[in-house]
Amino acid sequence: MISKTDNRSMTVKELQEKLYKMLLPVHGKEESNAMIYRLFEHYLGFNRPLIVIEREKTISRQKSATIMKAAAKLAENVPLQYITGKAFFLDFSVRVNRYTLIPRPETEEMVLIAAHLLTNKPPKNILDIGTGSGCIAIAMKRQFPSSQTVAIDISKKALQLASANAQNNSADIEFIQADILKSANFPGFPQFDFIISNPPYVRESEKIGINSNVLDYEPHRALFVPDHDPLRFYRAIGLFAGRHLTGSGMLMVEINEKLGNETVALFQSQGFTHTELRKDFRGRDRFVIAYNGNQMSQPFRK
Ligand SMILES: C[S@@+](CC[C@H](N)C(=O)[O-])C[C@H]1O[C@@H](n2cnc3c(N)ncnc32)[C@H](O)[C@@H]1O
Repeated sequence: MISKTDNRSMTVKELQEKLYKMLLPVHGKEESNAMIYRLFEHYLGFNRPLIVIEREKTISRQKSATIMKAAAKLAENVPLQYITGKAFFLDFSVRVNRYTLIPRPETEEMVLIAAHLLTNKPPKNILDIGTGSGCIAIAMKRQFPSSQTVAIDISKKALQLASANAQNNSADIEFIQADILKSANFPGFPQFDFIISNPPYVRESEKIGINSNVLDYEPHRALFVPDHDPLRFYRAIGLFAGRHLTGSGMLMVEINEKLGNETVALFQSQGFTHTELRKDFRGRDRFVIAYNGNQMSQPFRK
């Protein structure tokens, strides 16, 4: 709660101390400080050195109140990115809201690996399945500007935001509302030489280990799959790729770290001759690459 006495102008130092007191019990020392820096940056345009240099500068009553309100939400575990409406992905930012997942560092890593693998074979046509905020599609388009990039999602609200994000990042991307689980949607799609996806992959039974800031605020449709069929999206994506990946194309997906071997086995059973499981920076099985090996063209970079 913000008391009435807080509704006044404050110095940077006073505000910083108040915010720290509000956040510390919930987020601990390091996280609280990181959050305070982000709030100062977002609402005041202050970088870290400025916070130190301008300690005695007065922040207006209105600005102080806005920042205190944001901190109160953080203390209720609302993710910072939903409060500021902004998330960073590699070297650009996207707007996020409750219809879109907050992009994760593993996903940034997937895009970096993809860009590396495709160095010798810049894809002409790229598809991002389950685009959410549009972060993957935008990053791929920025990396391969001459590609035709298409992104699909089942959520109209997510697509609206993704489209605005693409425009803000000068990325020309076609956004299409489609359900990847319905193969009747497939015939309308062209061929792609790179298909990438970070589909929902957390099993319902894994909810128990998930923080409340994710469970209470992030869209469940973006995250969860039933325990009885945790690979349903990968089966649909593999089927789609079987029909819509060019002969020399590649499929890359982010996966549930506990289902690496199962995902590989699934893609093999769907006919991909080359499959590869890759770890993320934490050493967890996190990405699967699949393609057909008898390619006459340039190989993918190792
Ligand atoms: C894990 S999120 C990934 C979002 C974004 N690509 C990222 O990496 O941050 C999965 C996305 O798949 C979308 N999705 C869920 N079910 C879908 C379906 N049946 N067909 C297409 N997209 C779906 C969700 O709306 C969500 O945006």
